Amino acid sequence: MFKRFIIVVFILLVSYSLFRMSFVNKDGQAKHLSNNMVKDTVSAWVGTSHYQIPIHTDTNGPLIQYGYELIAHTSYYLGPKGIVQHSTNGMNCQNCHLEAGTKPWGINYGSVLSTYPKFRERSGSIETIYKRVNDCMERSLNGKALDTNSKEMKSIYAYIHWLGNEVPKGKKVKGSSIEILPFLKTAANPNQGKMVYLQNCQKCHGANGEGIMDSTGKMYWYPPLWGKNSYNDAAGLFQLSKLAGFVKNNMPNGINYHTPTLNNQEAWDVAAYINAQPRPSKDKSKDWPIVATKPVDYPFGPYSDTFSTAQHKYGPFEPIAIAKQHKK
Ligand code: HEC
Ligand code: HEC
Repeated sequence: MFKRFIIVVFILLVSYSLFRMSFVNKDGQAKHLSNNMVKDTVSAWVGTSHYQIPIHTDTNGPLIQYGYELIAHTSYYLGPKGIVQHSTNGMNCQNCHLEAGTKPWGINYGSVLSTYPKFRERSGSIETIYKRVNDCMERSLNGKALDTNSKEMKSIYAYIHWLGNEVPKGKKVKGSSIEILPFLKTAANPNQGKMVYLQNCQKCHGANGEGIMDSTGKMYWYPPLWGKNSYNDAAGLFQLSKLAGFVKNNMPNGINYHTPTLNNQEAWDVAAYINAQPRPSKDKSKDWPIVATKPVDYPFGPYSDTFSTAQHKYGPFEPIAIAKQHKK
């Protein structure tokens, strides 16, 4: 009996290792690639579609649904012709937090509930989700903060809570925020970027980056990239690395991180072109209270290093990053 058992185990082991060997021997390269693809699709967080929002009041359904509406159609409610109040530049949260904050590498909300409140160096303080939302209200939407007790803020919170509910506390999911591209050896070039812009972006975002309004005049079909209705110079996208990474994985609209059409150089250059154009300005004197914590691509002094403002705006960033490392 025992002997038979041993033989069966032996046969199983041999056939398993033969199976494995045939797999590995076939084509090491192809296997490596397909493994990566599996890894990517399996682990990048994708948010639940808004069609899954519960409808019942006892599960907060209506509040979450209104929160979704505010993220997707912010301008309809809060824009210059908004039906609730006029407190933003006419952009929607969803213009940047793509697919209502559910898209991998599209600045999604996957890690918001799990990582806030948290300390942020920009404000030098511990920020709640409410504070973080209002940061975007005042910077990305170049508008006014929402009252924390307003129905609008409570709804946005409820939606973000619903989206991130299953992410364990403290965990940052793969694909949240923006992918930072490898730094270029040279400075990003706005003139080259203009060529990239004319070829790949202008048809939607306009010759002057002004975007295109829909026929109601309440919302943009294509949001502005610079000028008076765009994000201000205190916004996250005014840092070149964030704009370049966002564009590479998401623009022209419709692509995703598996299907980029720009290469890294083009993404950096077009970002340089966009951020060289005029846009609203906000008081930044309270930002980055500890000067040494300013990111390498933060284009406003004073600095704790000797690199120029231009280098902090367009790069090359690697020497700045290395100098920063040495100081630590
Ligand atoms: C012009 C683009 C833009 C718009 C519009 C915008 N945001 Fe943001 N938002 C950003 C960027 C950039 C970040 C920082 C991402 C990073 O650094 O990884 C961010 C970060 C956030 C975060 C923190 C995300 C995280 O993972 O830590 C929240 C929450 C947020 N925004 C909410 C909103 C809400 C709500 C609105 C609309 C009222 C809005 N944002 C509009 C660009 C935008
Ligand atoms: C086919 C039309 C189209 C093209 C081409 C296109 N975009 Fe966009 N872009 C959009 C739309 C639509 C949005 C808003 C997405 C949403 O709300 O779902 C957007 C959003 C953006 C945003 C964030 C919101 C803002 O206005 O700041 C940036 C930055 C951006 N695009 C840059 C670019 C760049 C750079 C290119 C060229 C490489 C480009 N886009 C090409 C349609 C386009």
